[in-house]
Amino acid sequence: MPKNKDFQRASEAPLLPTGTIHFIMHCLARFKGWIILMLIMETGQATGNILVPYAIKSIMDSVAQSNGTPLLENLRVPLLLLVSLNIAEIVFSRTSGAILIIMGPRLRQYTTKALYAYLQYHSPRYFGSHFAGALAHRISETAMSVNHTAWSILCDFWPILVTFTISIALLLNVNQGLGLMVAGWVFVYVSLSYFLAKRCQPYAQAYAATRSQVNGKIVDAVTNSLNAKLFARLHFERQYLDGFLETEVKSGRRTFWYMERIRWFQFIAAAILKVSTVYYALTLWDSNIITVGAFTMSIGLALLIINDARNLTRRFLEFFEYVGNIANGVDTIVQPHEIVDKPDASPLTINQGRIEFCNVNFSYDSQRPVFDQLNVVIQGGQRVGLVGFSGSGKSTFVSLMLRSYQPQGGKILIDGEDIQYILQDSLHEQISLIPQDPSLFHRSLKENIGYGRLDVSDKAIQLAAKQAHADEFIKIMPDGYDSLVGERGVKLSGGQRQRIAIARVLLKDAPILILDEATSSLDSVTEKTIQESLDLAMGRKTVIVIAHRLSTIAHLDRILVFDQGRIVEDGQHEQLLAQKGLYHHMWTMQAGGFLPEQNTTPPN
Ligand SMILES: Nc1ncnc2c1ncn2[C@@H]1O[C@H](COP(=O)(O)OP(=O)(O)OP(=O)(O)O)[C@@H](O)[C@H]1O
Ligand SMILES: [Mg+2]
Repeated sequence: MPKNKDFQRASEAPLLPTGTIHFIMHCLARFKGWIILMLIMETGQATGNILVPYAIKSIMDSVAQSNGTPLLENLRVPLLLLVSLNIAEIVFSRTSGAILIIMGPRLRQYTTKALYAYLQYHSPRYFGSHFAGALAHRISETAMSVNHTAWSILCDFWPILVTFTISIALLLNVNQGLGLMVAGWVFVYVSLSYFLAKRCQPYAQAYAATRSQVNGKIVDAVTNSLNAKLFARLHFERQYLDGFLETEVKSGRRTFWYMERIRWFQFIAAAILKVSTVYYALTLWDSNIITVGAFTMSIGLALLIINDARNLTRRFLEFFEYVGNIANGVDTIVQPHEIVDKPDASPLTINQGRIEFCNVNFSYDSQRPVFDQLNVVIQGGQRVGLVGFSGSGKSTFVSLMLRSYQPQGGKILIDGEDIQYILQDSLHEQISLIPQDPSLFHRSLKENIGYGRLDVSDKAIQLAAKQAHADEFIKIMPDGYDSLVGERGVKLSGGQRQRIAIARVLLKDAPILILDEATSSLDSVTEKTIQESLDLAMGRKTVIVIAHRLSTIAHLDRILVFDQGRIVEDGQHEQLLAQKGLYHHMWTMQAGGFLPEQNTTPPN
């Protein structure tokens, strides 16, 4: 459960506990019925298992006492018990197996779904500071570990507990001294196993860390294999990896030596129990305190306990590892959501599309402010160009409008409504963005374009593609609109990717349109033809265009010139040129339509 008041959670996201144990309980809670059934089956199986020595005891005693009467007659009951115990063991264990099959994949599905749904509501800042692959890995690792933890408890620890309890009860019944001796052994053994597993855990963790480090190094090297080849550094790379592999070997050995020491303890402890049970039971038999059957049962039970206790340390170790994995996953994913809808947030209805920044303060990292008291009004239906040197805050301006980040001060209004109080989904439905570096889903081109509006026909998709001049290259691809685009769209050229991004935004047809360098990767001929489609799509929308190529924005209604987070000039192209300020400077410095990388000779 969220513990403090700072814990913000998007209301659509599942309510997940932040503590590891609570999280495990939360995931298991919906399978209560199955878990209880499984506990019953495991109890049945363990009990059946332990009662076998008891059945043998009865058989032995009957054999010992049979004086004259037909043996089979006497043995009927104990033999029946033996048969029923075996049948019960089969039935219980296989039913438990069936429950595992029914429940296991569902439990894993639930954990994955819940963590993914929670993750979706994190902010761009969160996704910017975590690797996508690492997050996906965390989710699957956590889901797997919740399953393993459940199985450890249900199929390992619980049956062991049942076995130990019933065995000790049976032994106490045979002879108190014998029962107490075994009980003492069990107590010491379990405590020591737990203690040793805890001591071994850091070694095992360090070993796991070196393994994943080696993995990371190999992935990095494979990703950069072309670099290695072009610099003739293949041999160097092998040597480089050798260093890390050596660390892995050392760490592995350290862990295995520790485990070996634990095994010494286990073997010695087992031997002590075996020998002392035999010796003690023999003395009891010798003094006629117990029967021959009870003697055999005691030995049988001791062997059963030893069998179950073997690997207990390893099981504890694995258990700690699973719980550690879950803790990691929960710590990473179940964090407060940075940007959430207010409880009374309402949907946005856009009439004009007027955008207002009111005393906005913003910084990404609270050290370097990007905006300090930024004020600007963009009228509905206005087409505004944003220009400025790289890093002057243009993309940030747009990100704030989309509420990807929360300003530290001031407010942003759309048609007079503070976007803080608007449902984010409705805000995003009304604003279309073609980002600086559009990325696509690794799905078909059709699906990528149709993402703008899920209910449209193939014909509409093609029409949008035609308007964005994407149709011509899609048609000649082997699978046409069904072609897959590769991870993030890598199988397309930068310009093709941009055209797909334009097509899907044309389909979306939102009242506010933002183009962040939307045509920067296109050659000037294609750009010109697309520009016409874009102008058509702009219609009466409010449009914000960010461009480094000033010629693409010169014709707009208004131009805002950004400089280090401030709007230093504001007006139409001709006016700004006449002012002979920064815009004029940039315009005259443009070589071939592009801005220079940075302001080399500042305007006076
Ligand atoms: N995710 C981020 N985290 C931290 N700082 C950032 C982040 N994104 C941008 N910045 C910083 O904020 C400032 C403004 O960046 P922004 O991306 O808004 O510039 P821009 O005007 O769009 O530049 P460009 O023309 O190169 O796209 C820069 O100093 C940049 O380093
Ligand atoms: Mg930018």
